[in-house]
Amino acid sequence: MTDTEPTDHKLTLRSLKATDYPDIKRIMDLIYSDMGGAWEPGEFAVLIDQFPEGQICIEDKGKVIAAALAIIVNAEEFEKRRHTYEDVVTGGEMSSHDPEGDVLYGVDIFVDPKYRGLRLGRRLYDARKELCETLNLKSIIFGGRIPGYGRYAHELTPAQYIQKVKATEIYDPVLSFQLSNDFHIKKILKNYIPEDTQSDSYGVLMEWNNIYYEKNRCCSAGARPIPASALSSGRCGLSTTWRNFSIR
Ligand SMILES: CC(C)(COP(=O)(O)OP(=O)(O)OC[C@H]1O[C@@H](n2cnc3c(N)ncnc32)[C@H](O)[C@@H]1OP(=O)(O)O)[C@@H](O)C(=O)NCCC(=O)NCCS
Repeated sequence: MTDTEPTDHKLTLRSLKATDYPDIKRIMDLIYSDMGGAWEPGEFAVLIDQFPEGQICIEDKGKVIAAALAIIVNAEEFEKRRHTYEDVVTGGEMSSHDPEGDVLYGVDIFVDPKYRGLRLGRRLYDARKELCETLNLKSIIFGGRIPGYGRYAHELTPAQYIQKVKATEIYDPVLSFQLSNDFHIKKILKNYIPEDTQSDSYGVLMEWNNIYYEKNRCCSAGARPIPASALSSGRCGLSTTWRNFSIR
């Protein structure tokens, strides 16, 4: 942030609403201009309809400036085989979302460029981790971008590049962030997002394990198991998660 002082902010972490679409569109059009820009309103609405708890944002004085989107999937389907981003979002229908699945799949995370480096991405990941624990899901997984790789593709393999990022010899704008948020690398995903030329179309399957996960428990928010059908009704006690905070 260069144009406003930190004290000017009024930041709130909250669930996304369908009416936030214009703010989300503005950010996505800005940062994904070379990858097709923002989603269509219908694609955004499907996520909120299917799994409102998984769609988290940070607003500053009422305007959304960062968001993290997620669905629930079956680990078997995504951890054990190579998949693409399209397999996850299924043309915007999010049909891979399964309320009875066992892992949270991160569909996207983004911060308005003017608000980067203020640990807002970290805040969103903390909230997503809390959600994973509350819903008693095994882990969070996602295919992460490696947008710095394109510049090195002629001299390094993806594995060599990742090693250098891990060793902090190279800074990658996304992978360095994911690693610093305790995600570990499971697999390289070739052709994950074909139009992501910055990443030479590669993705990296990353994981964070929920150490509180218990196989035969449904949801940690209440003493009794909560049926999967209740997940979208806000009955998992998640409202206590959302709060105001300031940048430190
Ligand atoms: C990746 C992204 C979400 C990070 O958001 P952010 O709010 O700027 O990140 P944070 O400020 O929370 O950074 C957290 C950590 O990441 C690392 N990091 C982030 N920006 C950094 C920078 N400019 N230089 C060095 N490290 C950096 C740091 O280790 C930082 O750790 P710290 O909290 O100890 O300082 C943001 O850059 C973004 O929106 N990128 C474009 C969208 C995208 O590609 N998303 C990924 C989809 S897979």
